[in-house]
Amino acid sequence: MADKLLSVETVDVGYGHVGVIENLSLAVPKGAVVALVGRNGAGKSTLLRAVSGLLTPSKGRIVFDGRDIGRAKPHAIVDAGLLHVAEGRRLFRSQTVDDNLELGAYGTSLSKADFAGRVERVHELFPILKEKRHDLAGALSGGQQQMLAIAQAMMRDPKLLMLDEPSLGLSPLLVDQVFAAILSLRGSGTTILLVEQLVERALEIADAAYVMQNGRVIANGPAAEIAKSEALKTAYMAV
Ligand SMILES: Nc1ncnc2c1ncn2[C@@H]1O[C@H](COP(=O)(O)OP(=O)(O)O)[C@@H](O)[C@H]1O
Ligand SMILES: [Mg+2]
Repeated sequence: MADKLLSVETVDVGYGHVGVIENLSLAVPKGAVVALVGRNGAGKSTLLRAVSGLLTPSKGRIVFDGRDIGRAKPHAIVDAGLLHVAEGRRLFRSQTVDDNLELGAYGTSLSKADFAGRVERVHELFPILKEKRHDLAGALSGGQQQMLAIAQAMMRDPKLLMLDEPSLGLSPLLVDQVFAAILSLRGSGTTILLVEQLVERALEIADAAYVMQNGRVIANGPAAEIAKSEALKTAYMAV
């Protein structure tokens, strides 16, 4: 097993006094794509919020790149190389596509050449963002905004990229582009934690997978095994 880049250890997380996640452990090896699946309300987004510092676990540890980040602030976690593309898009809608990419790199000390290289990479993966570079982000379609949100995170060349439902609301063509982008990112060494409602497709590209139900992990293992598992069926049948 490769080195762990992220390790969530026996964590409880909730909102105020309402517990959502209970005693959850999960590991993301360096260089892997790990899928996190489960029905609506299982607690997937809540877990990502805890990892990115938006929520603080009441129990357990979250270790990223050798550091306990369980109580770290979101900006410090971003600076450490962990980027979270949340459900719904957080873009600067009244700024251009190009401006949004530039803002994605804000606070990094990239050289002009490195910055240009990253923009070029983004344009290769998402050609539409090149075509629409001078358009306002708010004028893009939902799918294009989703791409821009991913592209913005890529501008920081994250060690770990957490994607929450990246295919939500996308046309089939754009879904293909998003999945191709995920594979390309993995190919270039980015580790990915992927929450995705297109479970079959997520498991096709993932190395390992975790199945969540009611705030707990009910199964985990190689993605190909999870794809055939009873636990996966159970997780999607249960009301
Ligand atoms: N901001 C919030 N305040 C209180 N409860 C929340 C909040 N967001 C989500 N929840 C609750 O947490 C549980 C898990 O939600 P969520 O993490 O969004 O699940 P998933 O992403 O797997 O669909 C649900 O019961 C949901 O109602
Ligand atoms: Mg969610």
